[in-house]
Amino acid sequence: MIKKAVIPAAGSGTRFLPLTKAQPKEMLPIVDSPTIQYVIEEALQAQINDLLIITGRSKRAIEDHFDRSFELEQQLKEKGDLKLLERIQQIANLTNIHYIRQKEQKGLGDAISYAEQHVYQEPFAVLLGDSVISAEESCIGQLIKLYQRFGASILAVEEVPPDKVHRYGIIKGQKIADDLYLLEDLIEKPKPNEAPSNLAIAGRYIFTPNIFEFLKKTPKGKGDEIQLTDAIKLMAKKHAFYAFKFKGKRYDIGNKLEFLKTNIEFALDRADFRDEILKFLQETLDKHQKAVENRQ
Ligand code: UTP
Repeated sequence: MIKKAVIPAAGSGTRFLPLTKAQPKEMLPIVDSPTIQYVIEEALQAQINDLLIITGRSKRAIEDHFDRSFELEQQLKEKGDLKLLERIQQIANLTNIHYIRQKEQKGLGDAISYAEQHVYQEPFAVLLGDSVISAEESCIGQLIKLYQRFGASILAVEEVPPDKVHRYGIIKGQKIADDLYLLEDLIEKPKPNEAPSNLAIAGRYIFTPNIFEFLKKTPKGKGDEIQLTDAIKLMAKKHAFYAFKFKGKRYDIGNKLEFLKTNIEFALDRADFRDEILKFLQETLDKHQKAVENRQ
């Protein structure tokens, strides 16, 4: 069984500057909760209850969010807002969260290396702290089921349009069943004509503990950082490694445009906002349409 998850959240988030200068992108809100809370809830849905968050510089807000705030709880009690009080207490009681600091931002591969002492010799899940996945069955739960069948490392992939492959890590794989591939290679941000597929790595993984051995052998790569994809490439040459096209949709919050779209989509899913947001979108579209017509 997979009982432990590692959530890397120490990256610098340069794609989201200036906002990420002094605050973590993993705390960016999706409607009224920070991104990383959705990530943790996904792990809990899959019965994982031991979480290790890799944090770093300017990431204190993450620890504070999952800690108790007696002052705030007292204020809510005095105001008689018991519903909100319950929600705030629930967040602090979510699960057993451990933290370790990545001392320098030396890449996602380096961040995962910090988990070795914690996961020890068990297989473990990795969920990127800046990616939310909406799915009926949690994405990491879908991977765990396959891990139980094959006993090998596995990562989630999603189909992306061919003109967007240059933004992602793209897999080359041998199809062995519906939506399941044996990993042969990975290419980081390929040009459309060099991409071996349109299946992009989606920020969810199950690793056997020998990933640490390969991380140690991985030299610095792109951006002078230890890249997780480079370690996976090395590992896939020696051990069976699978890729699964999961059922669901991934949202990359580290990308400004996707962050904005995600908020609209999630707000439309909420009964308390849906009608107002729809009305607002309709009115805004009409206004823009009229402005375009007036210019013609
Ligand atoms: P990204 O690939 O988005 O890198 O990280 P980044 O540095 O955070 O952001 P940009 O590209 O500069 O905008 C994917 C995940 O890996 C974590 C991030 O926090 C994010 O959740 N990460 C990345 C680390 O924990 N440490 C690192 O050194 C790099």
